[in-house]
Order: sequence, then structure tokens, then C-alpha cells
Amino acid sequence: MKISVQSVTKTFALGKDMFTALDEVSLDIADNEFITVVGPSGCGKSTLLNILAGLEEPTSGRALVDGVPVSGPGPERGVIFQQYALFPWLTVRKNVEFGLKTAGAGKAERRERAQHFIDLVGLGEFADALPKMLSGGMRQRCAIARAYAVNPSILLMDEPFGALDALTRVKLQEQLLDTWSQEQRTVMFITHDVDEAVFLANRVIVMAARPGRIYDVIDVDLPYPRSEDFRLSPEFAVLRNRVWHSVYHQDGRSSADSGTSLPSPATARS
Ligand SMILES: Nc1ncnc2c1ncn2[C@@H]1O[C@H](COP(=O)(O)OP(=O)(O)OP(=O)(O)O)[C@@H](O)[C@H]1O
Ligand SMILES: [Mg+2]
Repeated sequence: MKISVQSVTKTFALGKDMFTALDEVSLDIADNEFITVVGPSGCGKSTLLNILAGLEEPTSGRALVDGVPVSGPGPERGVIFQQYALFPWLTVRKNVEFGLKTAGAGKAERRERAQHFIDLVGLGEFADALPKMLSGGMRQRCAIARAYAVNPSILLMDEPFGALDALTRVKLQEQLLDTWSQEQRTVMFITHDVDEAVFLANRVIVMAARPGRIYDVIDVDLPYPRSEDFRLSPEFAVLRNRVWHSVYHQDGRSSADSGTSLPSPATARS
């Protein structure tokens, strides 16, 4: 297994009480697998990702990458955070080059790779701009370029396309699948968009809240490359309906009852 999450529990102190963000979560992800994670707000998706990124420690249980317990961040794991984390004092280009520097790339290689990925996410004209001069979606694309540039064997992506317009989003979904199918890479991708979850994944993990846990696992046993036709196919519709049902009618309730701010099926289709 590339990634193995074994009975991971994570509790946080909440005043005098303890809050269980993850309750005995176990999950194996094979090498080169693409999994997506969906679930209501607060069900522990980011917490799980942060544990795999080495930024949080499990309260009990363990997380292994390549058979080794995670003890901190590493260059083989590229992380794209839910809130884009750019260095505000560095330009787009320098932000993208930053990770490459840490990974030990020489100056010319840094420059070349950075340019390639800046162009890939459509920020060519803004390579020398500072983050404050960019829109939210552009900042997110810069964070994506930075993660891709290091060519990590594992990509941990926390709602990476959430802030993007529909067109850019579809384009980046297809690019991500392209690079993923060309290079050996394992991806864990969190999203609130059920269509996106099914379109990208080998397997969709549905989580539930209070306590955070894995609620359902849905195999998307359909071939790649996946084109626009795939999104319109009956097989796709069946799977997305299954995932919808699993996410929005957990425990027979509508998720609106549990105080989450998820969009209704009609508005979230976009
Ligand atoms: N550092 C922390 N201290 C205390 N509680 C935390 C901390 N981090 C997360 N939590 C709590 O753990 C729960 C899970 O949070 P997490 O960010 O993993 O949810 P999520 O599934 O990513 O939600 P969203 O879809 O809104 O991003 C939440 O109830 C949150 O309040
Ligand atoms: Mg989150």
C-alpha cells in the first residue's frame, strides 16, 4: 500500500470537552490510485489530509506512507491546502520555484519547471505578480502550480478547485487526470462537488460527521481517459446519484438537518 491509515482517531480539546474529529478511521490507498473524499462540512476531511501531510498527529492509530509512519511533511507528498497558502512577499514565479528549491533543483531547472507549470495553470502573464494582485482563483492556481512543479509521488489536495470558475475547473480536472495517467502518482482529493468526485476517482470515500468517520466507499470502475462524454453517460449518472444519496441522506436524514451548509443538489450541479 502506498498509503495506509490504521484506526486513526483524532480528538481536539473543545473547552473542557473533547471533540472527536476522526473516529477509528482506516483506509488503504494503492500506488497510483486516485481517491476522492466527500462528506458534510466538519466531518474530518481536512484533518485526515493534514495527518497524511504530517501536519497533525493522530491521537491514536497511525498513518503510513510507503510503509513508514508519517512523522512530518516530506517532498514526496505535495499538499494543496483548502486555503491557498502562498508567500505574500514572493511573486507567482518565486512561489512556484520555492518548493523546487527545497527539493534541491538547480537554478535553471527551477526556472524552467516553474514556467512550465505557471503556463499550465494559465498564469503566464502573471508570473511576476505578487499574490495580492491576483484573484482568489488565480492564487489557487498558483498553489496548484507550486505543488505540481515538485512532481511528488503523492498529491494531497484539499478542495483545490473550489475557488475556480467552472471552465477553469473542468480544464484543471482534465489536466490533473492527464498528468496522473502519465506519471505514477497517488492522489487524495477532497471536494464538495459530487460530479467532480465521480469524474476524477477510482474510488469515492464518503465521510460522515459527529464523529468523523468513513461512511461509504463507492468504486468508480470506469475506464480513463474520461472525456466530456463520460460526464453525460448513464453510468456516470448512476454513480453520482449513489454518491449524492450517501452524502446528503446520511442516517436517513437530509444533511440540512445537521446544520451543515451544503448546497442543494440542484444548485451544486453547475
Ligand atoms: N486545530 C483544531 N482544534 C480544534 N478543533 C479542530 C481543529 N481542527 C479541526 N477541528 C474540528 O474538527 C472537525 C473536523 O474539521 P475538518 O477541518 O477536518 O473538517 P472538514 O471535513 O475538512 O470540513 P470542511 O468541509 O468544512 O472543510 C471540525 O468540527 C473542527 O471544528
Ligand atoms: Mg476541510
